[in-house]
Amino acid sequence: DKGNHRHFMQKEIYEQPVVVAQTLRSYLRRMENQVSLPDMDFDLGSVKRVTIVACGTSYYAGLVAKYWFEKFARIPVDIDVASEFRYRDPVLEDGGLALFISQSGETADTLAALRHAKAHGQIIAVVVNVPTSSMAREADLLLPTHAGPEIGVASTKAFTCQLAVLAALAANLARSNGKLTAEEEAEIVWHLSEAPAAMNEALSHDAAIEAIAPLIVPARDVLYLGRGPDYPMALEGALKLKEISYIHAEGYAAGEMKHGPIALIDEAVPVIVIAPSGPLFEKTVSNMQEVQARGGKVVLISDAEGIAQAGEGCMATIEMPKVHPLIAPLVYAVPVQLLAYHVAVAKGTDVDQPRNLAKSVTVE
Ligand code: M6R
Repeated sequence: DKGNHRHFMQKEIYEQPVVVAQTLRSYLRRMENQVSLPDMDFDLGSVKRVTIVACGTSYYAGLVAKYWFEKFARIPVDIDVASEFRYRDPVLEDGGLALFISQSGETADTLAALRHAKAHGQIIAVVVNVPTSSMAREADLLLPTHAGPEIGVASTKAFTCQLAVLAALAANLARSNGKLTAEEEAEIVWHLSEAPAAMNEALSHDAAIEAIAPLIVPARDVLYLGRGPDYPMALEGALKLKEISYIHAEGYAAGEMKHGPIALIDEAVPVIVIAPSGPLFEKTVSNMQEVQARGGKVVLISDAEGIAQAGEGCMATIEMPKVHPLIAPLVYAVPVQLLAYHVAVAKGTDVDQPRNLAKSVTVE
């Protein structure tokens, strides 16, 4: 049931503050200021290496997690898309943690990769939205997302719930191997608890985002730029736009622009810049200015402070609440989803069931 919404995708975008809060409730102990995971029969503190495997949007959640695991837990992380991982004969040392991320829990490549990792002595952790799925059944550590059924082929709420679980896992890994003080853990709990309200505020800018959609509709190509944990959000924004509006879009690490893609820039290629204020803001803005100096039309997604500092000369800006960098990926997922959604609606495509795509890819 779509309720008051025109499409399942729109409904699912709007559900995010509630389902992320619901997911966080089972991973945060607010009273104790601690993160907590389900019981497990192995020692998380002995994990020396994490291998993350997933496909599509779930893979992008994994890319964000890599930043968090390395930053908080100081554990080396390897990450790959499942279809590559399976066939490249990866080096897997005994006792490593292999982490699989999937909405459906049935994606054929991810499931095959899981079995490969299991056969090679890895502890299997699974972040999955369907608790009865094949991946859930084969996990040593099952980390459910509580997004509820996701109907739209374009993944939205499952993605932000995956991020919530992965942040909790990062903090847990960090605590288990002695890299996180109680105070730092309390801060992480505090920031994560603020995510649902910040996502609600992000949703309140929907009308402004809808008003920008007509600027993107005529484009044949669109670029998305971001840095650090917001670089995967550029990849995710581009994937959402491609999937449902059929406009060619690419996400790039902002610093990579000058190594090639900047050659594409002209006034017909909108560039969406994801730049929350924070440690990487200045760097991203300087890449944005390189684009503008070549006639590129920029849509800047930032908070009021960032927009005040760098919004001038942009074709449009989208304001987000000011948030801690840890939760920026959860919050900035909202505007990139909404932008893709409104562009697709304006183009009249089948938003919930885009051509050539299946909700769950159960064949190789
Ligand atoms: O069910 P999964 O999370 O394993 O699915 C992985 C991808 O097929 C999925 O994320 C796909 O990329 C979505 N259509 C993205 O919106």
